[in-house]
Order: sequence, then C-alpha cells, then structure tokens
Amino acid sequence: MKSFDGTLQERLHIPLARINRDLERIVLHDPDVSSRSIVALSVMDLIRAGGKRLRPIMTIVGSRFGSRPETDSVYQLAAMVEMVHAASLVHDDILDQAETRRGQPALHRKTGIYSAVHIGNYIMCRVMELASANGQEAEKYIHELASVTTTQLCLGEYQQMEQRFNLDIPLEAYWEKTRNKTALLMATCLQLGAKAADADPDVVDSLYRFGELLGMAFQIRDDIMDFTATAEELGKPAGTDLRNGHVTLPVMMAMKDEATASKLRQLLRPDASEAALDEAIELVRQSGGLEEALAVSHRFMKQAWDVTEQLSAFPAHADLRTLWSYFEARTY
Ligand code: FPP
Ligand code: MG
Repeated sequence: MKSFDGTLQERLHIPLARINRDLERIVLHDPDVSSRSIVALSVMDLIRAGGKRLRPIMTIVGSRFGSRPETDSVYQLAAMVEMVHAASLVHDDILDQAETRRGQPALHRKTGIYSAVHIGNYIMCRVMELASANGQEAEKYIHELASVTTTQLCLGEYQQMEQRFNLDIPLEAYWEKTRNKTALLMATCLQLGAKAADADPDVVDSLYRFGELLGMAFQIRDDIMDFTATAEELGKPAGTDLRNGHVTLPVMMAMKDEATASKLRQLLRPDASEAALDEAIELVRQSGGLEEALAVSHRFMKQAWDVTEQLSAFPAHADLRTLWSYFEARTY
C-alpha cells in the first residue's frame, strides 16, 4: 500500500471543526428534543466518537467543481450525509451484533436494541425534516439523498441479510449489494456538493461516477480488511463478516478453487461452531482470494483515476486526486 502523508482534511484544507459543529447543531437545534434527553445525548456521543468524516469531505470537494463552492448550504448538506451514514451504522451494528464501533461500545450495547433502533430512526427522520424545511436551500438538492440513496442503503442491507451463508451468490448480486450499501452514498455526496455549487450537469455526473467507483473499491477493501486487519485496527473482532454469514468478495474468489469451495460448504452453515468459522476464515486467508479481491479493488481505483483525468480542466481535480490517494493508501 502507498503512503498518505498528513490527514485528509488538512491536505484538502477542510475544517473538521466546522463539520462537527454543523453536525451537533442538527440535534441541538431540534425544538422537539431536550438536549439532556437520552436521544440527544446518544446522538452527541455518536458525533463525538469521531470518524473520518469521509462523506462530508466528499460533499465539500464536490462543491469545488461549481461556481459557488463551500457555502453554508454545502456544509449543511455535508452534515446531513454524515448523519444518514451515522444512522445506517447504528442499525448496521444491531444487525451485525457488533460489540464496538470506532473503538467504543456500539450504541445498542449502551442503550439496548429497542432504544438504538429508535435513535437510528430519529437521526434519519431528523435529516429528512431539515432537508425538507421550507426555505432551506438544501431542499432543492436533497431529493437524491432522501428518496433514492437511503432506499438503496436499506435495500443493500436487506440483500446482504437475505444472502447470509449463501455460498452460491452470483458476482452480480455482490456488485449490486455493494453499490447499494456503500458506493451510492459516496457517489451522492460528491453529486450533492457539486449540484449545490451549481456545477455543470456533465461534471456532476462524472463526480457521481467517481464516487461510485471509489465506494466500490472502498467496500471491497473493507471486506478484505475483515480478514487481514487486527481487531485493534478494525475496532471490532476480525472475521466478523463471515461469522455473521456475509459472503464477501474474498470468499467468492476463494470459492473458485473446487477443493476450497467444498471445504467452505461444509464449514459455513448458519449453525456453524466457532471452531468451524475459525477454520473457514483461515481457509479464505490462505486461498489467494484476498489477493484476487484486492486486484478487483485496484481495477475500480484505476477507473476512478480515469474519471479524474476527464476533470483535469478544473483546479479541484487535484483535490479529487488527493481523495483518490487517500483511498488508495488507506483501507479504512
Ligand atoms: C456498514 O457495512 C453498513 C452500511 C454501509 C450500510 C448499512 C445500512 C443499513 C443498516 C440500512 C439502514 C439505513 C438507514 C438509513 C437507517 P459493514 O457492516 O460492511 O461495515 P462495518 O465494518 O463498518 O460494520
Ligand atoms: Mg457492520
């Protein structure tokens, strides 16, 4: 992996403090929720737990391709996309029975599942409420996020659940699920920022494509990291995907070898013992499937680079390349 010096926000001159302030405002300015309520405190906890803020950063970079970059409206959109992402992670951690997120106990471990479901729903609905509030400039652009992307997020997660322990899922189904659960939100972030800054429709489309390709590569690497990273790096135990029955690209690539496939079929069942799951994880690690998946991720990255070339007339294409290098160097 190549290295990436400094932090992404520093390299892109994006004030993270402003993003965080806008995020907190979403909750603190809600007249219906007391700032001392469990809901508000839990959401503030989530915000303060940090995160890379990749999606808001992508929104701001997208705006640099238009004639009105980095307006208040762009920052407002950036906060909204992060909140949608945060809500989806709250639900994802319940579905994945995750113990931790960002090195801290997952929200449902602190509040219980029922509360966490409602808090996730609240965050989503609060974003939609803000986006559709009269007079908000965001109202004009938020349609994609509200109507399409969040639906795809839910569908992606549903597809993943439906395919648990299915070792015969076609590659096409993996692409679709990956696009839905990860790539489209990233694509939408760049798109929303660009639209809010009045970028040309062609440019908006190219940025959308760039975000989609980067998102595909990102999720594939996330799937690989589940086998290669330490629990400390992941903020959760390694091998969690397979333990939850999620058949990801490294497993699908490992399945190309007949002997490995037949062994994995014996090991990976909904009632599999811990020992069987450990053996399956080790088998995938040894199979060459990780390297093949990494090669696929590189192909998506290469296509994303090609999109940056189409946008080379814009000074902000350098920022797109900074984003690209960050994704290339880092997996997480
Ligand atoms: C992380 O995947 C999860 C997602 C990218 C999307 C989750 C979406 C939902 C749960 C649908 C609900 C959506 C809303 C808007 C409330 P992962 O488990 O592969 O990644 P991880 O390693 O970070 O857990
Ligand atoms: Mg998860």
